Amino acid sequence: MKNVYIETYGCQMNQADSGIVGKVLVENGYSLVNNQDDADVILINTCAVRDNAEKRIHNRVHDLQSLKKKNPLLKIGIIGCMAERLKDSLINEDKAEIVCGPDSYRRIHELIDLNGGIDTELSKEETYEDIIPVELNSDGISAFISVMRGCENFCTYCVVPYTRGKERSRSPESVIAQAKKLFDEGYRDITLLGQNVNSYIYNEDGKDVRFAELLIRVAKINPLLRVRFATSHPKDLSEELVDAVASYNNICKYIHLPVQSGSDAMLAKMNRKYTSEQYLQKIDLIRKKIPDCAISTDVIAGFCGETLEDHNRTLEIFRKVRYDSAYMFKYSDRPGTVAHKRFEDDIEEKEKVRRLQEIIDLQRELSLESNQKDIGKIFEVLVEGESKRDKTKYFGRTSQNKVVIFDKQDNKKGDYINVIIENCTSATLFGKKI
Ligand code: 5AD
Ligand code: SF4
Repeated sequence: MKNVYIETYGCQMNQADSGIVGKVLVENGYSLVNNQDDADVILINTCAVRDNAEKRIHNRVHDLQSLKKKNPLLKIGIIGCMAERLKDSLINEDKAEIVCGPDSYRRIHELIDLNGGIDTELSKEETYEDIIPVELNSDGISAFISVMRGCENFCTYCVVPYTRGKERSRSPESVIAQAKKLFDEGYRDITLLGQNVNSYIYNEDGKDVRFAELLIRVAKINPLLRVRFATSHPKDLSEELVDAVASYNNICKYIHLPVQSGSDAMLAKMNRKYTSEQYLQKIDLIRKKIPDCAISTDVIAGFCGETLEDHNRTLEIFRKVRYDSAYMFKYSDRPGTVAHKRFEDDIEEKEKVRRLQEIIDLQRELSLESNQKDIGKIFEVLVEGESKRDKTKYFGRTSQNKVVIFDKQDNKKGDYINVIIENCTSATLFGKKI
């Protein structure tokens, strides 16, 4: 039993984690394969944030059972947030053999060696900082580095504090070492990850290093290394962090600042610890200090007790901020959360879908408007790969995280080129190298 296939769902943090799991396996004599048919073990790294994501995984695991007919020794493992949330029910009901939570990846090979088993112990210390991950499904240009784990914000709708446990940060030294190694291997775009990067704190020789300083240290590795980060909680996005983004050309002019709702009543009920006014002050701060900064957000439609007035406030804040892009969700009740215990999930599915669609339609207009403003402007674009739709073209991203399509010419992956924008849709810019 030696070949392992790892499949990743959900957030960027899961992608980084799959790389850690891969490294633990390789160090313990396993091989990683790119095809489920070659695998003796299939590991599925899962997300528990919304019910529909979980349903997909249950179906996937169900479908995989048929592979066991061909290969009776095949073992299926569920790792990540669903493993943490559902524990042994994944063995009893879903017929998985291995269940491994986000803080138990050092032991993943033992669970496989034992022919199956479960470990969902959460840890206050585990950061995996000594494990340099393998880069799975990599384009050789972009990579993620997780700088902290866990979340203690307890937004009432969110399952993450229960599945990923207490906040803990990695040493700056280990983050820099990983970033330097990636740069030397040709990577040019690195995203520093944490559920709430603003909570990053590490005591180094008696002095606290916070996220803004960490970000600057990574940016200083080389001006050709682009640095991004996610996610910032609006309540503690600091002026120092905004200043850091403003001051370094290679810290990307892109901030993801989840608003979740535009209604103060909903924000309070969600335990977000800011009002819409305070959120807008953070936006003003960003706009003042970084005029060319793109801003994106997360939003939830149809949270418990959300009135039409509350929903309109969300549309209103979208119009005020004029986001460049957004990740938009309808509320999904999650067992174990405060919202599940205390509030009624009372917005009908049809109405949730309608409100979500209204936000999506508005955001499409805002994204188009934002992209149209770029027509005629020149951007520095990092060449990231071949366009999927048109093999004669490359795609890359601007510092603002917008995707640009352009003719290949004599460029290659990893080059920085100047592109003038000639056309756009709400999702993509089209341009020409100058
Ligand atoms: N229902 C819908 N969306 C959710 N998110 C988190 N929990 C839920 C939930 N129960 C969204 C939030 C968060 C993003 C990662 O997922 O918008 O920022
Ligand atoms: Fe969930 Fe809130 Fe933590 Fe984000 S900050 S992971 S939404 S609890």
